[in-house]
Amino acid sequence: MIASNAAVRATSVERADMSDQVQPRDRLIVALDLPSLTDAEAMVARLGDSASFYKIGMELTYAGGLSLAERLVADGKKVFIDLKLHDIPNTVERAARQIAKLGASFLTVHAYPQSMKAALAGVAGSELKLLAVTVMTSYDDADLAEAGFAFGVRELVTRRALQAKEAGIHGLVMSPEEAEATRKVVGQSMTLVTPGIRPAGEALRDQKRIMTPALAIAGGADHLVVGRPVTEAKDPAAVAEQIVADIASARALVGKTNRKA
Ligand code: C5P
Repeated sequence: MIASNAAVRATSVERADMSDQVQPRDRLIVALDLPSLTDAEAMVARLGDSASFYKIGMELTYAGGLSLAERLVADGKKVFIDLKLHDIPNTVERAARQIAKLGASFLTVHAYPQSMKAALAGVAGSELKLLAVTVMTSYDDADLAEAGFAFGVRELVTRRALQAKEAGIHGLVMSPEEAEATRKVVGQSMTLVTPGIRPAGEALRDQKRIMTPALAIAGGADHLVVGRPVTEAKDPAAVAEQIVADIASARALVGKTNRKA
């Protein structure tokens, strides 16, 4: 579905924006879901100045990606470490403390109260901000019931988002479809980061609940995580530039809506 400006306006939430200082380019987070350091470094070189923020997940971490995280930070890039921590509190706290030494900006933790509190203790005194994963987007109500949970997805997402806010967690990761409703529940203070982004005309691949960059921003997302549409493009830098331009236009429309309010 192509996002028209009218659609963007129609879905714009009137938020008193506390994150206007963030540049559109820093709102795009390119997921380096690549099998080796060599591949990841080649992608970073191809993207050059068109990308300023990278996500390093489990695949690349287990291929030595944390050393790349440090090099990216040294080169002036921002880094999101997506390791979704969850273990006994002592282990989570110590793991978060190690990751805080890398100079990254974001780290994910599963939104279990024990894990969130432990991760907060681990990152205390550092610049590293925690993002809580409420309910994995691959789960539906039946999956939660099978895993022994008493709540369905909606109820659990809301419950955990509020628990994350109460614990003092910086932000949340979620599908763009949930961003607008979650923004209403948690208010303006939390940073919302959404994967599941597809530029207009792009193949869905294995993503089911997707949005264009403009609609995700209009719905209240602060940062967009985009992987394959950028990394598998013929010209990754051109795609990144287009997404940054879409983000800038959507932000301008959101700003106009807010000023009218
Ligand atoms: O290639 P694509 O744009 O689909 O990549 C999306 C990225 O966001 C991947 O790194 C994926 O692991 C991550 N992610 C997601 N859905 C979530 C959480 C993270 O797609 N619910």
